[in-house]
Amino acid sequence: MTDRKHASPSVLFVCLGNICRSPMAEGAMRDAAAQAGLDLEIDSCGTAGYHIGDPPDPRAVEIANRHGVDISKLRGRQLSRDDFSRFDHIFALDAENLKNIRAVEPDDGTAEIALLLDVVEDREGEPVADPYYGDLEGFEDTWADVSAAAEALIARFRAEA
Ligand code: 4NP
Repeated sequence: MTDRKHASPSVLFVCLGNICRSPMAEGAMRDAAAQAGLDLEIDSCGTAGYHIGDPPDPRAVEIANRHGVDISKLRGRQLSRDDFSRFDHIFALDAENLKNIRAVEPDDGTAEIALLLDVVEDREGEPVADPYYGDLEGFEDTWADVSAAAEALIARFRAEA
């Protein structure tokens, strides 16, 4: 795909492994877009390649399920060169990943790259903390963060439509 302009914005969420935070962000965004009646292209990936082809972490699946969203069919993939022209927006889940995204951005990249919580009022500059080494409650915090971001993005896209 060479033309990044879509009838609706396209959004890519990027964390490290693409098994915890970014698939939860993808799920929350898909759900929010469906509820808002917005037809968006939504995807997620990781800056690292540790979990290519893997389903989301079972804890991420469980917490998303608790909120009525099925992310079990998603599979891990790594950020690729094409993503920088395929998507209008690339959102990093934390500053480390933002740095790593910018480090591999091709010269002809067109996507706007930003930190995800920059879209949430009073959360600018904050990371979505990595829940991987913590407990299930950490995944609830992740869901709250990515849901707040999804709601803010839907409001922004509606205002721009
Ligand atoms: P994520 O979490 O970046 O939110 O998907 C992680 C998943 C896997 C690893 C680290 C963080 N890992 O080291 O394998």
